[in-house]
Amino acid sequence: MKNHRGCTQNISLNYNKQMKRTSNILIAAAVVSGAMLSACGKDNRKPGKHYMPDMGESRAYEFYSERLSTLKPVDGTVKRGELLPYHLKAVDTAQSNAVKNPLTLTKADLEEGKRLFNIYCGICHGSKLDGNGPLYNGGNGPYVAAPANLVSGPKAGYTEGRLFHVMTFGYNAMGSYASQLDKEQRWKVAAYIRSVQNDGANASAVASDSTQSAPAASAAAAPANDSTAASH
Ligand code: HEC
Repeated sequence: MKNHRGCTQNISLNYNKQMKRTSNILIAAAVVSGAMLSACGKDNRKPGKHYMPDMGESRAYEFYSERLSTLKPVDGTVKRGELLPYHLKAVDTAQSNAVKNPLTLTKADLEEGKRLFNIYCGICHGSKLDGNGPLYNGGNGPYVAAPANLVSGPKAGYTEGRLFHVMTFGYNAMGSYASQLDKEQRWKVAAYIRSVQNDGANASAVASDSTQSAPAASAAAAPANDSTAASH
């Protein structure tokens, strides 16, 4: 019995101790949660503690931030290795008339210009440059917009700068050729077009190298060569 009573007493003692411990924990929890809740009070002007803020908000260079990633180079920036910068924009047509060909062209350059023209432009403008290439074919071709006549009429008076501008940005129904022809190639094509206009009378602007008369003369003969080339 003694043993048994002692045993019960022990049990109740333990029980009391445990109750005390539990209530202590509860009180502590209430105090902590109370403190936390008070931190979420209505007073938002005191945001509370921020643990290691530089982990949440990086101090590193924000390369992809909206502001930096959309920045464009300053107007007039010339990229490394760029030998033929061209700063005019699509709307600057009037200024383009005055732009000079920056290349010193040789006869071989004009031949290259002709080759490129026949690849990229001839399909619409014709290998005779008369605006009647196979794709248009006098209005019977699949391409409905009439390509400009580049050897007679108002377009025959275009400067190399203007021709370069049209190739760079396109014009109305005609698209830009800037992705097919690099700047050097576009200048060569422009020089070639000038060299065959008005029976070669416009070619003087091109023949600025030592073999002056040679390219002009051969360029003047180019349309005739063209027609034989076209009949292939
Ligand atoms: C897919 C057909 C097509 C090709 C290819 C094409 N053009 Fe054109 N081009 C046109 C048409 C169409 C027009 C007339 C646009 C208009 O007046 O609306 C035109 C107009 C022009 C003009 C006159 C622009 C003006 O100010 O009136 C020039 C110069 C010209 N092209 C040069 C070229 C050169 C150089 C190439 C080759 C790099 C070329 N085109 C390739 C269809 C073409």
